[in-house]
Amino acid sequence: QAKVEVDLAAIPEGKNVLIKWRGKPVFIRHRTEDEIKEAESVDVSTLRDPQSDADRVKKPEWLVMLGVCTHLGCVPIGESGDYGGWFCPCHGSHYDISGRVRRGPAPLNLEIPNYDFPEDDKLIIG
Ligand code: FES
Repeated sequence: QAKVEVDLAAIPEGKNVLIKWRGKPVFIRHRTEDEIKEAESVDVSTLRDPQSDADRVKKPEWLVMLGVCTHLGCVPIGESGDYGGWFCPCHGSHYDISGRVRRGPAPLNLEIPNYDFPEDDKLIIG
């Protein structure tokens, strides 16, 4: 379907959820205060695909992105890798807690889909 609705009240802080949208995996993470601080503290000029955390989220506690490695399209694994975020086991790309590529062959950060929060605890993707 074109849009998917997600009940955010069901996702505790510090947890990842994977949903399908248009046949693609979408990662949703309810980030902790520490994770938000970590994501915001990175020197953007050092990044391969320079993006501030604020440019990647609408609400700091909710990270929403496509679960498709920007190298060759594998699905990265959550809560792993050297940067506190995701690790793609296919060829070893590491993504941080903002989904930005930090090491490995991936050229770009994990892509952010269109989404919105029509209500506090509701997310609509698409
Ligand atoms: Fe992810 Fe190659 S597909 S590192």
